[in-house]
Amino acid sequence: MATVLTPVSDLTEPEALAELTALADEIAAHDIRYHQQDDPTISDADYDALKRRNAEIEARFPHLVRDNSPSLRVGAARAEQFAPVTHGVPMLSLDNAFSDADAIEFDARVRRFLKLDEPVSYTAEPKIDGLSCSIRYENGVLVQAATRGDGRVGEDVTANVRTVTEIPKRLSGTGFPDVIEIRGEVYLGHAEFAALNAAAEAAGQKTYANPRNAAAGSLRQIDPKITAARPLRFFAYAWGLISAPFAETQWAALRKLREWGFQVTPQSECVKGPEGLLAAYAKMEQARPHLGFDIDGVVYKVDRLDWQARLGFVSRAPRWGVARKFPAEQARTVLEAIDIQVGRTGAMTPVARLTPVTVGGVVVTNATLHNADEIARLDVRIGDTVILQRAGDVIPQILAVVPEERPADAQPYDFPHACPCPLHTEVVRETTASGAETVVRRCSGEFACPFQKLAHLRHFVSRRAFDIEGLGEKQLTLFTERGWLSSPADIFRLHEKRAELLETERFGETSVTNLLANIEARRTISLDRFIYGLGVRHVGETTAVVMARGYGTVEALLEAMDKVAARDPEAVEELDALDQIGGAVIEAAAAFFAEDHNRAMVQDLKAQLQVQPAEQPKTDTAVAGKTVVFTGALERMTRDEAKAQAERLGAKVSGSVSKKTDIVVAGPGAGSKLKTAAELGIQVMTEDEWIALVGG
Ligand code: IVH
Repeated sequence: MATVLTPVSDLTEPEALAELTALADEIAAHDIRYHQQDDPTISDADYDALKRRNAEIEARFPHLVRDNSPSLRVGAARAEQFAPVTHGVPMLSLDNAFSDADAIEFDARVRRFLKLDEPVSYTAEPKIDGLSCSIRYENGVLVQAATRGDGRVGEDVTANVRTVTEIPKRLSGTGFPDVIEIRGEVYLGHAEFAALNAAAEAAGQKTYANPRNAAAGSLRQIDPKITAARPLRFFAYAWGLISAPFAETQWAALRKLREWGFQVTPQSECVKGPEGLLAAYAKMEQARPHLGFDIDGVVYKVDRLDWQARLGFVSRAPRWGVARKFPAEQARTVLEAIDIQVGRTGAMTPVARLTPVTVGGVVVTNATLHNADEIARLDVRIGDTVILQRAGDVIPQILAVVPEERPADAQPYDFPHACPCPLHTEVVRETTASGAETVVRRCSGEFACPFQKLAHLRHFVSRRAFDIEGLGEKQLTLFTERGWLSSPADIFRLHEKRAELLETERFGETSVTNLLANIEARRTISLDRFIYGLGVRHVGETTAVVMARGYGTVEALLEAMDKVAARDPEAVEELDALDQIGGAVIEAAAAFFAEDHNRAMVQDLKAQLQVQPAEQPKTDTAVAGKTVVFTGALERMTRDEAKAQAERLGAKVSGSVSKKTDIVVAGPGAGSKLKTAAELGIQVMTEDEWIALVGG
C-alpha cells in the first residue's frame, strides 16, 4: 500500500514507467485475490487509491500506458473472466415491426413466400426485456450456459446460470433430445428490481437504471455467489442445436419446454391470420402494466416448424418471425413541484412531483430529475407542461418541456442552497478526490443530518476507524430508533442503557457485557483513528495518519482545523504542506469544521475519550528517513505490521519501486518490483535481513 508517494507532477519519466509497471502487477494481484480467491488483502478505498494513482500517472504520461494497464482492463478483464462459447447454432435476432400495417405485411409476406391462401397460425409471445441466454443440456443434464455475445460466440456463464432457481439443472419428464440448447430470457421482476436497488442504495452502492441492466449486471458477476443472491428469473421460448427434432409446432414446443421444467410465459397464445396478430398485440398492451416484469413488445412466430424451416433466414433474422415493438410510452403532464431527496451519503436528488398521468397503463406521479445539471439542461420550471416517457423502464423520465405551454410567470429553478433536513445545512457541490467538481450536490450536515447519520455511525465503528465489535448496522439502527444514539459520543454513553439493553430481545448478559467492554476499550484511541472516524470527505486512513503526525495532538489538530475553517492562510498553508494533502482535503476539512454542529459533535466526542498523541517518527534508527517497499509474501509478520513497524522507526513505506526507494524487502513470489529494483540498483533484502536490520 502506498504511503508516501511522489506527487505525479514531480515524477520523471523513468520513475513513472517503474511505478506503472509496479502498479499493474500490484493491482492485478489484488484483482486475483478479490475476484478469484475471494480474499482481498486491502480495503476498497486503498484499492481505488491504487487505480487512481495509476490513472493519474497515465494521464500525465499517456505514451507509457501499458497494454496490460489496469485502466484498460475494466471491460476487457470481464470478457477474459468468462471463457468464449461457440453456440451450436447462432443466436440471431428478429426484425422489428412498429405498426398494425407492419404486422399485416409480415403475414402477407409469409403467405406469399409459402404460396398459401389459407390463414397461417402464429404464436404471439411477450417479448421479455432481459438478456438472452443459451443453456446446453446433455442427456437432460445442464452442462453449459452462455450469453448471446455477438450471436456466434458468447460468454460462458455456466456457474452463474446454475444459481438461477428457475433454470432446471436436470430436465424433468421425457422426450428431450440427447443434446439440446434451450434458449430464453434471463430477467428480473419489478419487485425484485426495486428491492435490489433499495439494498444497493442503502449500502451506498450504484443503483441500476432498469431491470434489464440489473439482470445483465447480475448474470455477468464474476462471483457466482453474488449472482445467487440476485433473484434472477428465466423464461424459455426457443432452442438452438438439437440432436433430434422434438415437436412439430412452436406451440407444442413451448408445452414441452414447460414439461421439462422451464417457465414459459403464460401470456403466450396461438392465433390465426392477421386479425389474430393484431388482437394479440392489443391484449398484450393491456396486460403489460400488470405483468410484474418488463416486456417491450410481442414476438410473432409462424407456428408450424416445417414452414419455419422453409421460410428460413434473411441475413441475421428469420423470415418466420418478427418483433412487434411497443412504442415508447409518452404522456404530457404538469410539473407541480421539485422535491429534494437526500441519500445516505448526503447526495441530493431532485424529484419531479407531477400531476398524475397514465403512461402505458401505469399512473405516474413522480419522475427523477437526476441532478441540478439535468434540470438546467431541460430548463424545466415549476408549472411547466412536460413530456414524460416510460420506456421499458420503471423509472419515468422527463424528456422535454413543451415551451408553448409555459406559464408566463414560470421562474428558472434555483437548486436549494440548504439541505431539506431540519438543520438546513449548506449544500456543497461534490468534488472528486482530485478536486474536480461533479454534478452531485451534497448536504454538508454529515453526522448531524438525519438522512446521513446512520451511514456516518457505521463508518465510525468500522474496523479501520474505532473498530467496535458487536456494533453493526442492526444495532446502530435499533439504538438510533430508540433515541439512544445520535452522534458518536453517544456510543460512549451506551453503558447508561445497560438495564434497557438487557431487556432487549436478542441481547443476553454476555453480549451486552461484551459490547460495553468493546466500547470501553476504545475510549483510548490513536489520533489517526480518531481523525479517520470523523468521516470527513477525502480523509481516508492514509491522510488521517499524515494529519495525526503533522499535528501531534488532538488539541493541536482541532485548533488548526478551526483556523482552516476560518480560512486562516497560515493554517491552510500548514495543512497543505503535509505530505499528500491537497485541495480536496483542505476544502473538505474546511467545510466540515465550519459547521457548528460538526464542531460540537467533535468536542462532545473528545470529552469521552483519551486521544493518544501521534507517535512521531524516529530519526535515530537504521532505517529512519529511508523509503522501503515490501513485496512478495511476508512470513513472520503481516503487511500491516511490517508497515507500522517501519513507520515507527522513521521509514517511509511505499507501494511501488522508484529511484527514490532505498530498500526493497522481497519475500517469496516477489515479481516485477524485484526486477525494477535490480534495474535501478536498489538494495534488496529478505524479511529476515530486514528484521535483523530493524532490531527484531
Ligand atoms: S425468439 C431468431 N422469443 O428478443 C431469434 N425472442 O430480437 C429468435 N426475446 O434475442 C428469438 N422474448 O433476446 C424470441 N418470446 C421471445 C422473446 C425473444 C424476448 C428477445 C431475445 C432475442 C430478441 C430478438
